[in-house]
Amino acid sequence: EKGNFRHFMAKEMHEQPEVVAHTLAHYIDMANETVQLPTDLPFDFTKLERVSIAACGTAYYAGLIAKYWIERYARLPVEIDVASEFRYREAPLPRDGLMVVISQSGETADTLASLRYAREQGQHVMAVVNVPTSTIAREADVVMPTLAGPEIGVASTKAFTCQLATLAAVAVAAGRARGVLSADEERRLVRALVEVPRLMNEALKLGPVTETLSRAVSRVRDVLYLGRGTSFPLALEGALKLKEISYIHAEGYAAGELKHGPIALIDENMPVVVIAPYDNVFDKTMSNMQEVAARGGRIVLITDKTGAEHASLETEATLIMPDMDPAITPLVYAIPVQLLAYHTAVQMGTDVDQPRNLAKSVTVE
Ligand code: M6R
Repeated sequence: EKGNFRHFMAKEMHEQPEVVAHTLAHYIDMANETVQLPTDLPFDFTKLERVSIAACGTAYYAGLIAKYWIERYARLPVEIDVASEFRYREAPLPRDGLMVVISQSGETADTLASLRYAREQGQHVMAVVNVPTSTIAREADVVMPTLAGPEIGVASTKAFTCQLATLAAVAVAAGRARGVLSADEERRLVRALVEVPRLMNEALKLGPVTETLSRAVSRVRDVLYLGRGTSFPLALEGALKLKEISYIHAEGYAAGELKHGPIALIDENMPVVVIAPYDNVFDKTMSNMQEVAARGGRIVLITDKTGAEHASLETEATLIMPDMDPAITPLVYAIPVQLLAYHTAVQMGTDVDQPRNLAKSVTVE
């Protein structure tokens, strides 16, 4: 049931504070401010050389963000592939290695095939999965449930942020086990994660601004999304979300790649959505933004108050996000990115929940 919402996607976006809180509660011991993975793991984080991740679409972007987290917080190298490549490329995998597959439906054919390949190669398989009765959940050695509840809209929203919440917990647990994070650092990260639902509620207030902005976006042919660090996968996710439901062509790029090609596209017709919380790479992203501005590009900046103060150039719109720990920005910045895609699709009059040519669960390769 859609309740008061016009589309399942809108309902599911607005459910995020609640379902992310629910998912976090599953992995966090609130009293002690520690991460507690609910399962006895059949492997030892301290003995792992490497983690492999495979997934498709939005779940793949959640995996890309997890790569940044696991490498930073656990000093554990991560390789990640889209599952349709992973399943055929015959990657050599380390003995007793860990394979993580991520899937909302738990039925995606390529992701399932990646799981089976990894098992044949003697990997421990961890599945971050939303449907507990799915094939992927059944075949994995360890299931890390995302507690998003049923997701009906074809565009994944709440499943994505619940995947991020789960993967953040895995990264912190690995970091603690490997002695990379101190108890104090763990506490800081846990406190930051616990703030996410409140911050998401704040971010959801950007609904009206993104709706206004969507009128301009609905008139263009192409949109470019840029981000650095963990905002880079979010740029990819923003572009995917926009194209799948509004049918407007969009590309996501690492901000530093701009001058290696996509800058040739910039003119006064193409909006460039820059995702740039005020973090350790903010200044770098700003200089990329200047390159866009110098070529007459139309900039939509998603940042916080400090970022807006430091961005000394004119934007077409600046969306101001609440202040937060840089560790958790992907979870919260997902919201304006989803809202912009949603409102643009509504403007275009597309079938938001059931976009053309797409299926909720891709069970054939
Ligand atoms: O069920 P899964 O998470 O395995 O699905 C993976 C992709 O098919 C899915 O994320 C797809 O990209 C969505 N439509 C994105 O919104």
